[in-house]
Amino acid sequence: MRSAVLDASTLETLMSAATAAPSMYNTQPWRFRFDPDTLTVELRAAVERGLPYADPQGRALHLAAGAAAFNLRVAVASLGWKPVTRLLVSPEHPDLLVTVRIVGRARSGSHHRTDLYDAIYRRHSSRLPFSDRRPTLAVLHEIAAAAHVEGVFLTFPGPRETSRLLRVTTEAERRNHADAERSNESRRWVRGKAGCEDDDLGIPEATLGPQDSFERIPLRDFTARRHVDELPSQAFEPSPTISVLATGHDRRTDWLRTGQALQHALLVATALGLRSSLLHQAMEWPDLRRILRSSQAPFDHVQMLLRFGYGPEGPMTPRQRAELALGGDVAPFDLSPQLRRVAHVVEGR
Ligand SMILES: Cc1cc2nc3c(=O)[nH]c(=O)nc-3n(C[C@H](O)[C@H](O)[C@H](O)COP(=O)(O)O)c2cc1C
Repeated sequence: MRSAVLDASTLETLMSAATAAPSMYNTQPWRFRFDPDTLTVELRAAVERGLPYADPQGRALHLAAGAAAFNLRVAVASLGWKPVTRLLVSPEHPDLLVTVRIVGRARSGSHHRTDLYDAIYRRHSSRLPFSDRRPTLAVLHEIAAAAHVEGVFLTFPGPRETSRLLRVTTEAERRNHADAERSNESRRWVRGKAGCEDDDLGIPEATLGPQDSFERIPLRDFTARRHVDELPSQAFEPSPTISVLATGHDRRTDWLRTGQALQHALLVATALGLRSSLLHQAMEWPDLRRILRSSQAPFDHVQMLLRFGYGPEGPMTPRQRAELALGGDVAPFDLSPQLRRVAHVVEGR
């Protein structure tokens, strides 16, 4: 029986992949711990990075954690190992959201595409206008199938329903601007000026993009400048491709599954050459979230709107260093003790 070594650099690879996941305002609301005895990565909520005004229930935080867990699964599988994922394993530790245990060598026949690992680092939110080229039905089908594998609905509504969803999102965006506490919270996470001062957290202004001069696609104005005249605008694609991610229930496990489905769909889209961005504003107002649901829909709880298309890549948004996500307050370049420990994975276990 051969044994493969899970060393510091491999663990760092796993952490970098996990933390490349999207999170609302790029708060990166996660903390990781590796248990070398059980070969388990624990993903906990960093509740101090929650968003009390925009996300009082922590639903968006769970989505981000689910997305990070999916990246971790893909990274473990790309190393030839099999990940076993469990959600909310300990009622006494509600902050322990996900565990990913490495149980041995992966057998062939995984249902994932093999190019998802590369897509982890190529995926960025692109808040720029997309071209008029529409994804084919085969492409849309593959993206939807990725979410379904995770137990979550992903649908692509027709033009009339898409316009309705975007109008509800426009109303949510209007309310966000009018709400002083939410505006301040959003502005605090924009890097530079008076906003977020941590270089590795928050959203750089360069990634924000213009507003749609047709006023059809209500991209989030993170700076909440209130006066549309102050914001740069450009013509966006006239017939946007919008999808709805939704679940039958609205429990914490549904949110964590949604995060995994979100990331699976985004990575498949990236592997297929598409760009993406998210429209979450209507999810932040319970009455608007309820009316997002269409009467014909087979699901009750809308969790996210995704926008897909072809166009510019969108700039990268930085992440915290892997060792910070693992250890907390460790000095720069000082790998935490967890990273220095070496564990052996016995292949085929
Ligand atoms: C739950 C959640 C909600 C989000 N909401 C929005 C949104 O409404 N508008 C937007 O442009 N991006 C949204 N994002 C994307 C984040 O801003 C983005 O992931 C983060 O800034 C990191 O950048 P990246 O996606 O380019 O890696 C959301 C992400 C998550 C996980």
